[in-house]
Amino acid sequence: MALETEKLSEHVGVQVKRVDASQPFDKETLTAVYKAWVDHSVLVLREQELTPQQFVDFGRQFGKPIEQNLKHLNVEDCPELAFISSEDRDIHGTGKRIVRGTSWHTDHSYAEVPPKGTMLFGIDIPEKGGDTQFTSAAAAFDALPDAQRARLDGMRSIHAFESSRSPRPMVKRTPEEIAAYPGDAEHPLIRTNPDTGRKSIYVNTVRSERILDLPDEESGALLDELYAKIGQEEFQYRHKWQPGDIVLWDNRSVLHKANGDYEGKRFLYRIMIEGDKPI
Ligand code: SIN
Repeated sequence: MALETEKLSEHVGVQVKRVDASQPFDKETLTAVYKAWVDHSVLVLREQELTPQQFVDFGRQFGKPIEQNLKHLNVEDCPELAFISSEDRDIHGTGKRIVRGTSWHTDHSYAEVPPKGTMLFGIDIPEKGGDTQFTSAAAAFDALPDAQRARLDGMRSIHAFESSRSPRPMVKRTPEEIAAYPGDAEHPLIRTNPDTGRKSIYVNTVRSERILDLPDEESGALLDELYAKIGQEEFQYRHKWQPGDIVLWDNRSVLHKANGDYEGKRFLYRIMIEGDKPI
């Protein structure tokens, strides 16, 4: 089936038009939408009208929704559905307002099996600011010199809940939340997306602790070099939210970051989709 699509940037993002996410897709449409998503790493649907339950049902078509680790961010009685809100507070720590996700990251990489996808559904969107940026870790890998790609492929790294190199503090967690995801997961530095066969650089500015088998200084310098590569503007797409937008991203191929440069209310529903162990 031919979808009506528009590419959103050179390396990341596709908008699929004229689909209604409130109803289940037929098999052919789902196959085409799923392929558009994994081929472009970020899928955008605009002007959608869904109840929270319909959003969960939409998400389920891409895989099994997983429970958000930070329990206070789950929608009551619906642990598969979480939210991001301008009212978010570090409730187990300082109690202060926080804007989550403001540096390049891929979701839950401190888990042994991180989610393959995350999706947001925009409800209250500020007039200005609050964009979400995405950058292609696959295009950044492709752009490395051959010799460096060969050197990095096969290396492994440790992802902590809060890396000692993190540019921002993570929220505090309860003992139960820590027990569920203790962190220090070991992952390949270069991972292959099983849906596309494409390789990408699997790092996270807030979680990557160190690259194994390298002295600390060299490991830190290499991580910084990879962050600089991935953060290049040419690999990015910046999503300017409108109410009714659904944005689904592939955590195996892109990094993303939020922007706290807004005033007023911002509220989005959030679902993460189960993945498999990075390879
Ligand atoms: C996130 O999931 O990192 C937050 C994205 C956003 O709020 O723009």
